[in-house]
Amino acid sequence: MSNDFLKDFEGIVDSGSRDEFLLRQLDPAAIPSHIAIIMDGNGRWAARRSLPRVAGHRAGAESVRATVEAAARLGIRYLTLYAFSTENWKRPRLEVEALMALLIEFIRKEVATLKENNIRFQTIGRDERLDSVVMREIDRARRETAACTGLQLNVALNYSGRCEIVEACRRLVTEALVRNQNPEDITEHDIERNLFTAGLPDPDLLIRTSGEMRVSNFLLWQIAYSEIYVTEKLWPDFRRADLFEAIIDFQKRDRRYGDIKPAKTEPLVANMK
Ligand code: FPP
Repeated sequence: MSNDFLKDFEGIVDSGSRDEFLLRQLDPAAIPSHIAIIMDGNGRWAARRSLPRVAGHRAGAESVRATVEAAARLGIRYLTLYAFSTENWKRPRLEVEALMALLIEFIRKEVATLKENNIRFQTIGRDERLDSVVMREIDRARRETAACTGLQLNVALNYSGRCEIVEACRRLVTEALVRNQNPEDITEHDIERNLFTAGLPDPDLLIRTSGEMRVSNFLLWQIAYSEIYVTEKLWPDFRRADLFEAIIDFQKRDRRYGDIKPAKTEPLVANMK
């Protein structure tokens, strides 16, 4: 066992397995600090098995559990999962209710494990429209894990990137009027501190499952410089090996943030004699 991750996954990852092979390729010095995931493909997973869509969401909750555990073991600081968008209210009532019930079940089952593993539970999104049982469970999970200092798990619930930016603007305008502030003085930092993600670093890596090349109104401001990784895997099939693969791919990227950096392997001027 050559890197520390193999120790962190001891007893979980079998010797000679694909998980172990992938773990060996991870560079511990370049682990992304914040990973965001658009969990997509639950419905298709269910349809391929002639099951109701809700069965796909239930299987997807197992992927959430596996991904949170792997992220915590890897020492990732923030994991943000897109669980329910403001647009998802348009789905049939029974599907919406099933998604909320799964969230409640997840919290009830997992909150003790989250706490034991020093994982802090948070949500991002608007509380309005969420029913009182969901809110009660969310508040309990937030409270019980408030002192945890390891991975922070952010569940995006009733979330919309555009609404988040509109609300930030409203707050800024109100603030500016009260303080008689010059609009020129408003900075990017002012917007950031009014987002649900205030205080969190932007995601380094955005993963989307099920092969769709869209960002679907997720963290629109925050993903300005995120690396995007799309896998064909449907979310209910996503497991720790898929997370490792995404991070290995991320670690090969050359992040330039609009700057220029010559690739290390290419000479600046070719064939000079
Ligand atoms: C997208 O698949 C998935 C969702 C809208 C919900 C994600 C929810 C879970 C994984 C369940 C539990 C969540 C937590 C945090 C415990 P889709 O239904 O749009 O799939 P499709 O595009 O194949 O129809």
